[in-house]
Amino acid sequence: MSVPEVNRELCIGCGVCASLCPDVFEIDSEGKAVVREGTDCESAGCCQDAADSCPVGAITL
Ligand code: F3S
Repeated sequence: MSVPEVNRELCIGCGVCASLCPDVFEIDSEGKAVVREGTDCESAGCCQDAADSCPVGAITL
């Protein structure tokens, strides 16, 4: 089971990760991305896309 990490210092809250991969990422009340509880990138299948699309490279897998 693989879980991505969001560097919240880098995240600018653009929301691309949450729109490409809503089962894994969501935007919290601070307007930054968080990884959902129980996330599994293998079954979600969209973590790489989200990481590649983040404009500030805040997502690591
Ligand atoms: Fe933040 Fe990047 Fe997602 S800026 S909201 S981690 S696409």
